[in-house]
This record gives sequence, C-alpha cells and structure tokens, in this order.
Amino acid sequence: MPGAIHAEGLVKTFGDVRALDGVDLDVPEGTVLGLLGPNGAGKTTAVRVLTTLLKPDSGRAVVAGLDVLKHPNEVRRAIGLSGQFAAVDEYLTGRENLHMVGQLYQMTSKAARIRAGELLERFNLAEAADRPAKTYSGGMRRRLDLAAALVVSPPVMFMDEPTTGLDPRNRQQLWDVIQELVAGGTTLLLTTQYLEEADHLAHDICVVDHGRVIARGTSDQLKVRTGGERVEVVVHRPDEIVPARAVLAGFGKGEVAVETHTRRLTVPVTGGAKLLAEVIRELDARGVEIDDIGLRRPTLDDVFISLTGHTAELAGERAGGAAGEGDGTAGEPAGEEAAK
Ligand SMILES: Nc1ncnc2c1ncn2[C@@H]1O[C@H](COP(=O)(O)OP(=O)(O)O)[C@@H](O)[C@H]1O
Ligand SMILES: [Mg+2]
Repeated sequence: MPGAIHAEGLVKTFGDVRALDGVDLDVPEGTVLGLLGPNGAGKTTAVRVLTTLLKPDSGRAVVAGLDVLKHPNEVRRAIGLSGQFAAVDEYLTGRENLHMVGQLYQMTSKAARIRAGELLERFNLAEAADRPAKTYSGGMRRRLDLAAALVVSPPVMFMDEPTTGLDPRNRQQLWDVIQELVAGGTTLLLTTQYLEEADHLAHDICVVDHGRVIARGTSDQLKVRTGGERVEVVVHRPDEIVPARAVLAGFGKGEVAVETHTRRLTVPVTGGAKLLAEVIRELDARGVEIDDIGLRRPTLDDVFISLTGHTAELAGERAGGAAGEGDGTAGEPAGEEAAK
C-alpha cells in the first residue's frame, strides 16, 4: 500500500524507560489514525521512529511502502512531518521559511512563492509573514511549522500534537485543513491529548499508555466497549459533592468521576430513566440540591478514564503540567537523541 503506515512490535528504551513497549500500528491508506495518550505515553517516540528520526531497539515499520530502517531517505521524501521538533529557521521570516521548504522539495522559485503565500493566508500568518520567525508567539510558530509540513502535499503525514497551544479558532481552522487533506487522499497519523480532536478527525483511535497500545477501534467502538449510559450530575454547592458521590456510588456500575471545579459527578449505570428517577429521589432525600442531571452516552473522556484511570487533563499534569497557551514546546523531554 503506497500510502499506508504499518508498524509491528516497536520497542524503544531510554535507560530504564520503555518509551515503546511493543507497539503495533496500522493506518490504511487515506485514513486518519489518532494516537491518544497522556504525556509520556510514547506518542512522540512512535512518531520519531516512523519518520526515521529515531531507530527502534526492535520491531519494524513500513511507511508509504518503504521500510523505515532500510530506506530512511526515501521514506523522508514520501512523508510530511509537523510537530514538536519544528524545523523552523528563527532568523528567516515566515514567508522565507516556507519558500525555502518549497525549494528543498525542488519546486520552482515561483511555485514555492505562490504556495508560501497561500499557506500564510490559510494559517492567519499573512500579516506577520515578513517578520523573522523568532518574533512569533508559540502559537504562530506552531502554525508556521504546520504550514511548512504542507508546502508539498505528501501522501503520508505525521502531526505530533498539532493543535497543542492553539486557541479554539486556530484549532478549528487546522481541523478544516486536515479534513481537506484527508479528503484529498492523504494518510495521516496524528497524536493528541485532546479527546475531542481525535473524536472529530480520526477514523481509528489507538490509546497508548506506558509505551503500549491499551485499546484500539473507532471512537464509537471504544465508547460502546466502555459501557452503557452515564448519569451526570452537577450539584449546586461544592460541599454537596461528597454526599452526592455517596449516592451515585450506590447506583453506579463503576467509579464515580468527580470534576471539582465544575461540581460535576459522573458514573456509569444501567437502568435508564427509571434509575435516573431513583437517583433524583435519593439526592433529594439527602438534601443535595442539583443544578443539572441527565443520562448520556459515554464520551471519549469516559473511555480514557476507564482505560487509564485518570482524565486526559490530569494525565497532562502527571508529567509536570500540560502545554500552556501559546507555548508549543511544553511537555517535551529535554536531551534530543539524534538518529544514527
Ligand atoms: N530522548 C529521550 N531521552 C530519554 N527519555 C526519553 C527521550 N524521549 C522520550 N523519553 C521518555 O520516553 C517516554 C515517552 O516519551 P514521549 O514519546 O515523548 O511521550 P509522549 O509524546 O506521549 O508525551 C517518556 O517517559 C519520556 O520521558
Ligand atoms: Mg509528545
């Protein structure tokens, strides 16, 4: 398959850390795989192996019909990569950066200039186009990095947390760009910590944690596997969280998830509307005032909680804080190991 990504048994260790602990991946041509996982799960390591930047200790991978270990140069020519190891030259302007990438890919100077102009427009960088990249904010750099990956339209693209640090408007725009790319036949492997992003863009999802794939399937399949409905309650006052939790625990078929700042509690249940009525009566009997209550299908967040035991949000904090707004580099391990 010329546009597909296939990996088998990838293992990569850094000292004691098994960053990849036997990962198999399959991305059929023209589809999007969302690689989902908390910080430190091994997502970037997987991308680096598949894009020839890092050699695995064992396992094999074929990208665009080419073995990444045997034909790294050919693989590099067939793929586009954007992500946390941006190839943006600080001292060149945005426009010059994109022009240079075009020329690296053997476009004529004129074609490269036209393409650069289109992409700058597309990624809301037109106004800043003639300023050196070093004056850009984190979010602007991220957009420039993405634009650089799209100068030529390679059959296989890798995007490592493409929208981390982007504001909602730019995120939505990028999603549109990605959907167009895929409609045009591009195969895409995308890593993300945003479950909503995977839900929106990915045909298939692989959830990774500690270097292993712990679940895979479509978003719907994962939700079904996570179980039936949830009761979701928003209590009126913070001190009502504890008694409400006790009530839900009595009715639930699993852990009660609590989001303190929104006073929202969620628990998987079976029993539908009848059960919901009982929950309401019991909360009332205990004097818990509720702002909102309802039954809903599981979201990808529920999937994530039931698989990893924590929310994606908390997962980000586990490794010392999620990437802040405008900072496109947070959460990256220091000390790049160059590929040999
Ligand atoms: N170059 C490196 N040197 C040492 N440890 C690394 C290196 N790259 C990644 N790791 C470790 O491997 C694990 C997986 O990292 P990574 O692939 O960056 O995860 P993710 O992208 O999912 O956040 C982490 O524990 C990380 O600290
Ligand atoms: Mg990463």
